[in-house]
Amino acid sequence: MNINTNYENLEQSYLFSTIAKKVNEFSNAHPDAKIIRLGIGDVTLPLCNAVIKAMHKAVDEMGNQSTFRGYGPEQGYDFLRTAVQGYYKTHNVDLDLDEIFISDGAKSDLGNILDLFAKENTVLVPDPVYPVYVDTNVMAGRTVIFANANKENGFLPMPDESAKADIIYICSPNNPTGAVYNKEQLKKWVDYALALNAVILYDAAYECFISDSSLPRSIFEIEGAKNCAIEFCSLSKTAGFTGTRCGYTIVPKNLEKLNKMWLRRQTTKFNGVPYIVQRAAEAVFTEEGQKEIKENIGYYKENAKIISDTLEKCGIWHVGGKHSPYIWLKCPDNMSSWEFFDKLLNDLQIVGTPGAGFGKNGEGFFRLTSFGSKENTVEAMKRFENAYLK
Ligand code: MLT
Repeated sequence: MNINTNYENLEQSYLFSTIAKKVNEFSNAHPDAKIIRLGIGDVTLPLCNAVIKAMHKAVDEMGNQSTFRGYGPEQGYDFLRTAVQGYYKTHNVDLDLDEIFISDGAKSDLGNILDLFAKENTVLVPDPVYPVYVDTNVMAGRTVIFANANKENGFLPMPDESAKADIIYICSPNNPTGAVYNKEQLKKWVDYALALNAVILYDAAYECFISDSSLPRSIFEIEGAKNCAIEFCSLSKTAGFTGTRCGYTIVPKNLEKLNKMWLRRQTTKFNGVPYIVQRAAEAVFTEEGQKEIKENIGYYKENAKIISDTLEKCGIWHVGGKHSPYIWLKCPDNMSSWEFFDKLLNDLQIVGTPGAGFGKNGEGFFRLTSFGSKENTVEAMKRFENAYLK
């Protein structure tokens, strides 16, 4: 047997695993330290009531002969696809049910979708960005080129006509910077993709944090997008499903071949999301569910404000937090991202994510998340202020 040697071209471990390992080592050496984790974007609020009620009901159904369910459709039950369809309708996007594929989350689908594309494709990825886009393509041996995101362009790179790409990744609101494309900017990306006959893989995992109704929550709000884009979304951040696992991917029927191939791929390699979880997800889209998750998102947004107000006070350059759970800051005293990571962990017992882990343009930057508890966020920012208020 020969192994896939492309794995040798990857960083030694996944960014968030490296961080977890470092934090564990610190915690073992300092068992009394009260570490505050503002690193990985993992939610802390429990599932909302509407979701819990729906899950309990579904559990009971599974225990009853007449309502028990075995294998479900790999692409998701119609009740959930209909709920997703209704949700898109609220931002003026019309979808057919067979354009909606239920999954266990955006990360899996973003990786799995690559089954559909030849190895020879050139992939365009913004830098900095969520490491999964690069890693999954490196695993497959594809050539990856980068679109530079930086302070000058507000971390929103625009297409460079001289760069030729076949697969283009866009994440808006962006992980890690929190930057959001407006409709005009996204239209330029759509036109660029159409001109190149390229596909856009659009990660909308943070769309629920957008509070300005003029900003697009889906790429399908942009004219022409159904001819060139696939959208990935997840309930992880929207409804606290990081441990419950449910998401959805939209493959428009205008991309006829891809829609068919994705169905073929999923029916062969995926068993679908558990019935109980799909019922929980359906509840997110009810009136009660939407009201409750908006309260939770509001809570995280308040944390983001606490973080950004503190950074402002300390005179530390930062962006994000407004339409995103992430705050992206310039490391103080010209420290490198990992130097600042070590310093925060050792001196203040705060965990964040080094910007360099998201790409070379992230060097010298750092990401904090607002997904902690309010109490911990306030405490972390007190520590921050004591150390950095000049
Ligand atoms: C992050 O912290 O960037 C995310 O939680 C990672 C993910 O969603 O997989």
